[in-house]
Amino acid sequence: MEKYTELLKNAYEAMDNAYAPYSNFHVGACVKTKDGKYHKGANIENASYGLTNCAERSALFHVYSLGYRQDDIECMAIVGQGNTLITPCGACRQVLVELLKRDTPIVLGTGEKVLVTNIEELMPMAFTSDDL
Ligand code: THU
Repeated sequence: MEKYTELLKNAYEAMDNAYAPYSNFHVGACVKTKDGKYHKGANIENASYGLTNCAERSALFHVYSLGYRQDDIECMAIVGQGNTLITPCGACRQVLVELLKRDTPIVLGTGEKVLVTNIEELMPMAFTSDDL
């Protein structure tokens, strides 16, 4: 798990930038690209609640906006408050299926708990471009 220490540290730092005045639930994410860079994202809420952007989407959209693509991504982390492991919501899973490779490590963390998974495990039988 030590290889993810820096990744998790960046994800926890990202939580500080969450804009979450409605839920007060701060989530942080970090995407590590293969060039060794760490890209942070946080949840950004809206008074029209459905327009909220989750932390993992904030981080991944930013990475894609910089020009990186699936093959450039080494791993990502998602961390949150509380005692239960945070796992991506359904909407985010659909985004992760599109923007990550199936086996790219996704590190989920909260407090002492850490779980390394990937989008294949989180969203089996997903609808993808292969189905079009
Ligand atoms: N949230 C995330 O940012 N990522 C997740 O994986 C789960 C939920 C955010 C959305 C909302 O701002 C707050 O957490 C409460 O649902």
